[in-house]
Amino acid sequence: MNTASPSTKSEINNYIKTNEERFINELLELLRIPSVSADSKYKPDVLKMAEAVKAKLMAAGADKVELVQTAGYPVVYGEKIIDVKLPTVVVYGHYDVQPADPLNLWTSPPFEPVIKDGKIFARGSCDDKGQMFMHIKAFETMMKTNNLPCNVKFMIEGEEEVGSANLGQFLKENKERLKGDVILISDTSILGNDTPSIDVGLRGLCYMEVEVTGPDRDLHSGVYGGAVANPVNILCEMIASMKDKNNHITIPGFYEGVLELSKEERAEMAKAPFNLDTYKKEIGISEILGETGYTTIERTGIRPTLDVNGIWGGYTGEGAKTVLPSKANAKISMRLVPGQNSEKTAELFTKYITSIAPKSVKLKVSVHHGGEPVLTPTDSIAFKAASKAMEKTFGKKPIPTRGGGSIPIVALFESVLGLKSVLMGFGLDTDAIHSPNEHFGVFNYFKGIETIPLFFNYYAEMQGAK
Ligand code: BES
Ligand code: MN
Ligand code: MN
Repeated sequence: MNTASPSTKSEINNYIKTNEERFINELLELLRIPSVSADSKYKPDVLKMAEAVKAKLMAAGADKVELVQTAGYPVVYGEKIIDVKLPTVVVYGHYDVQPADPLNLWTSPPFEPVIKDGKIFARGSCDDKGQMFMHIKAFETMMKTNNLPCNVKFMIEGEEEVGSANLGQFLKENKERLKGDVILISDTSILGNDTPSIDVGLRGLCYMEVEVTGPDRDLHSGVYGGAVANPVNILCEMIASMKDKNNHITIPGFYEGVLELSKEERAEMAKAPFNLDTYKKEIGISEILGETGYTTIERTGIRPTLDVNGIWGGYTGEGAKTVLPSKANAKISMRLVPGQNSEKTAELFTKYITSIAPKSVKLKVSVHHGGEPVLTPTDSIAFKAASKAMEKTFGKKPIPTRGGGSIPIVALFESVLGLKSVLMGFGLDTDAIHSPNEHFGVFNYFKGIETIPLFFNYYAEMQGAK
């Protein structure tokens, strides 16, 4: 059977068309569950979400769907093995979402999805419930129209947004069960709805927290100010010293190992369409700022960063209180690129900040979750199948791009399971993931559902399996 034949292709598209409304409504159902993994208040909802994904996988036609317990939230695992001799695609996604705050900036409540201007507004609509669910609906479509050409295994986790700390252990304990040929992930973006692209790399992450303590309690800033170290001032000075005037990070050894791109590779990257004015307008800035010598696409794709994610200390209430604070804290993350390593970066950071901290304060440095940077192959059958599938549905060949975000487990798929990933995402950078008013285009949702069966088909075909 050739699933690419015009008749089966229209069968697939007919099925999607006929079930369009239900496909949307089922996603809306999932978006109503506030599965925020970072906040323990939502624990029952996160667990409810895991159950809901399990039910959806079973209804779509998977065998042996189960919730596999971990030290944290369960992994939803399901599979459909049609023939052990056929290739196996392992689909990864996550059912947890980021916290929705600040709530007052949402134009409609984050867990009461609404469709406006062809976009589904809700926390998780794009990252990653919408994109994960495209795979379940594509799978249902292939099952119901008798067009599943490969084996498929689903592994949908509930802790991606908090660093996937327990997923490495899950991989180690389930090596046999997770045997397959490739990992397929939709949790990234495309350049535009008329400019398809596939991420061929992701940045890693090293996330630190710093606490600076001066006097053992808040002091009167007039009585003591000028003679005693102010931890907030000190923290700001230390952070400011981590970048020079070219926005180059000054931590000794930080760039060691960073994979530099050749002139040709940079020229290739520069071919991707990019409009600076649109970029600025989309996020409400009047000027960009970054490392000298690199373009915006390079700054977010192939260069590491150091950013304060949060900083606090002293008096932040109403009015003015004259106080010399006892403590100052900051959460600082560094995005890493191929050649860097999160553990080593954490050590370099700790060593540097310790070396510059004045004796007048005490310093506490701790490490949060991390993740390693990855590059995914462009010469593999799986990449070619993804590229061909997208070319078919978008009418344009997808451009290889580097994703600025992180998906910590991707590096472990390679080191623990020996499997490479394909990052076939369908979101847009402007979908406001992690921000208020997150949304996902109805166009993008159905583009994903249409493209995934083609990926399966080309993948099987190119492997000589059909
Ligand atoms: N889906 C994102 C990652 C992403 C987004 C990659 C856009 C490329 C383009 C993922 O859910 C995410 O937010 N990851 C976190 C990782 C962290 C919580 C360990 C990130 O990048 O901050
Ligand atoms: Mn995600
Ligand atoms: Mn995310």
